[in-house]
Amino acid sequence: KSPAKTSFSCSACGASFTKWSGRCDGCGDWNTISEDKGLTSAGPAKKSLGAMRGKRVPLTDLATQETPPPRTLCGVAELDRVLGGGLVEASAILVGGDPGIGKSTLLLQAAAQFANAGLKTIYVSGEEASAQVRMRAQRLGLEQAPVKLAAETNLRDILTTLEAEKPQLAIIDSIQTMWADNVDSAPGSVSQVRAAAHELTTFAKTNGVSIIMVGHVTKDGQIAGPRVVEHMVDTVLYFEGERGHQFRILRAVKNRFGPADEIGVFEMTGAGLAQVLNPSALFLSERGQPSPGSVVFAGIEGTRPVLVEMQALVAPSPHSQPRRAVVGWDSSRLAMILAVLEARCGIPFAGLDVYLNVAGGMKISEPAADLAVAAALLSAREDTCLPPDTVIFGEISLSSALRPAPQTENRLKEAQKLGFTSAIAPSGGKSVSVSGLTLRPASDLTGFVGEYFGAG
Ligand code: TYD
Ligand code: MG
Repeated sequence: KSPAKTSFSCSACGASFTKWSGRCDGCGDWNTISEDKGLTSAGPAKKSLGAMRGKRVPLTDLATQETPPPRTLCGVAELDRVLGGGLVEASAILVGGDPGIGKSTLLLQAAAQFANAGLKTIYVSGEEASAQVRMRAQRLGLEQAPVKLAAETNLRDILTTLEAEKPQLAIIDSIQTMWADNVDSAPGSVSQVRAAAHELTTFAKTNGVSIIMVGHVTKDGQIAGPRVVEHMVDTVLYFEGERGHQFRILRAVKNRFGPADEIGVFEMTGAGLAQVLNPSALFLSERGQPSPGSVVFAGIEGTRPVLVEMQALVAPSPHSQPRRAVVGWDSSRLAMILAVLEARCGIPFAGLDVYLNVAGGMKISEPAADLAVAAALLSAREDTCLPPDTVIFGEISLSSALRPAPQTENRLKEAQKLGFTSAIAPSGGKSVSVSGLTLRPASDLTGFVGEYFGAG
């Protein structure tokens, strides 16, 4: 008999190791690695091989047999779109987000909407008593919705309840509070969270129930974060936003049943989350007079164009090592653009502090934002403005050439709809024109700098 192998895993990213260390090699976080606790002897024993072992179906047969899984629309367009066009039957969904960002509120509202749309829905809270959930529902004006509530943390009890109730949608708030009694470690640990998510996902598949699990993003290494279970579920959504901003963004980072990168935009109100059907108008609503350092980027999030304001500040640095601070964009991408401006266009940023902010609490990951960022940096540095009512987009390569961005026409149409009259975009690619909007092509960064910022 071989001795039991111990293994360790990271509570932030779920990476496994054979020995303990202070820092995770997977994600670089400190103090997140702890020992895995296996199943106790009371756990289910596997005595025989599965009966389904080796069953094969020709691919061509499947194509004609299988119909797409049924979906239910809840009627909230922002949520339905992020789910890939409604909730898929028997799917497992993870909704991650920082504590206090509004996950419970979102999911209680979603529970009510799906229940009103005809799904038998149960909301299981491991964090609040049923009376508290009911009070929240009252505050949100949802007390009439046909949702069943349960306050429970024992996984076995929850699965028994689900088996008896036979709901079509179960919401589990949160996965970190769930506790499987056949796993020998504390609730919230990597082993517990994994076991709970695995059992719930399996239950979803075998019983045809859709299960939405809430996962808190944790800073503390003792508690496992949602990334630990991302690979087990069909769909991973993150609910994000800046504290102090009323916008909240639900973002699909993985979706077996629809496009990833899709976003839904919500606004926090006293009566819960309200969907924002035209996010560009909202993101630009805080924009004042045209000012140096401010540029409007015409971006694409998933299948939808979204205009956002990029703000830059460039100032002489009092430090020997100038500061580079970024909110809402990738800091290494900023370093790359500064390097290209310096090396290819001869515009130095040495000795200057550089701050970049995406207004409204949006996070942008598209490379097409490069040119907008460069424009904001130059505009701040030279203290000049771009032509008014102009949007800008395009990817910058290390050689300073500009690459056309995908979905150019959608970006231009959105800009025109919001009252913009011109767009700066890379030349090349398919030629598109949108009436009422002047397209100002730019072929490379040097030419762009010369045209809009003097000789640079
Ligand atoms: P909550 O949904 O409890 O956050 P989470 O489950 O992610 O920890 O929301 C946090 C607080 O914010 C809660 O007191 C309710 C409040 N809130 C509103 O008042 N309006 C809203 O639209 C949202 C989303 C939250
Ligand atoms: Mg909560």
